[in-house]
Amino acid sequence: MAPGLADLALNEVRALARRSRLPALETTVRDDAIAVAWPGDPAELHALRTVQSVARVWRFDVPRPKALLDNTAVRTLVDGVRTIVESARPARFEGLRLSAAGSGSAVMQRLAEALAAGVGLPLAGDAGDLVVRVRRGEGRAWEVLVRTTPRPLSVRAWRVCDRPGGIDAALAAALVRLAGVRPGDRVANPMLGGGTLLIERALAGPAACLHGVDTDLEALACAQRNAAAAGVSERMVLVPGDATLAIDPPTGGDAAAADGGPRRRYDLVLVDPPWGDAVGDHVANAALYAALLRVAASQTVTGGHLLMVTHEVRLAERLLGDHPAWGVRHARRVWQGGHRPLCALLERLPGG
Ligand SMILES: C[S@@+](CC[C@H](N)C(=O)[O-])C[C@H]1O[C@@H](n2cnc3c(N)ncnc32)[C@H](O)[C@@H]1O
Repeated sequence: MAPGLADLALNEVRALARRSRLPALETTVRDDAIAVAWPGDPAELHALRTVQSVARVWRFDVPRPKALLDNTAVRTLVDGVRTIVESARPARFEGLRLSAAGSGSAVMQRLAEALAAGVGLPLAGDAGDLVVRVRRGEGRAWEVLVRTTPRPLSVRAWRVCDRPGGIDAALAAALVRLAGVRPGDRVANPMLGGGTLLIERALAGPAACLHGVDTDLEALACAQRNAAAAGVSERMVLVPGDATLAIDPPTGGDAAAADGGPRRRYDLVLVDPPWGDAVGDHVANAALYAALLRVAASQTVTGGHLLMVTHEVRLAERLLGDHPAWGVRHARRVWQGGHRPLCALLERLPGG
């Protein structure tokens, strides 16, 4: 999983074990990975939303990778990888990719060839989707990790179109769980983009309403296509709107906003505003973020929450340092596509 999300991913793994009525899990947690002795069917782990991918691990107490070419080790791996290929069906693997330090070495090449031949797949270099990683384990051991799906779990089937500045779906899934999934929540996602946050919130559980606005009509069309592919479009209202004026779908035009009429109020606002690189610009963001926080505050119930993810870290910290309407309840940095955005969970304060 992306570094910075281990606790949220572990919560999800434990919840999955409870749902599968499995005994307490043995886990080892690192910042970017959770090792778990899963007592159930490994395919159950493919239901996880907050992790990038799942890999099966074999550990060999051998001093050097060359020992992995031993017949018994190769047999163990071929049998294991075959099980992964079979249990992934109907998904199909097209080719094997071996990733390891020194992957070009004769030993690694022979290991890759033996595994590929053993499971009847071609070697496919970087294009391979049966990803086999070889790494040094703890102590005097070497580990072989095999991803159990042709594509990372974070690559969602529902993402039928992409938008510049789109966030990773596994990160979005983790953040909506950080904000809390309450069935009665009225949820808004201003600056919707391709809809990642709102779609992952919809897939995480029921909500009283799911509203999204964006000024960009192409982004809206993309979000509508993604929501339809995710099977949640019926539950959403996605319309054009300027979040510096209002974060709810306009009713009967903008008259209500213009004359200060009552607007909808939300329990949870999810927002990934422009970071100023792929979308928007840093100069304009100062005013944009200030307006967004002010308008969102006017439409969030006291005690309600706003979950923001942004790479405008200093700007966000400056605005939230002593904001009259928002109190920072939680903040962390996570990794996302080479960036290290800030994820802040804010609570709507009384007054302000
Ligand atoms: C970083 S993108 C959101 C990406 C989205 N989270 C996703 O995963 O696809 C920010 C979005 O904010 C929209 N936006 C910028 N200014 C806006 C405003 N004033 N009101 C509403 N949307 C706005 C942009 O059109 C863009 O689609």
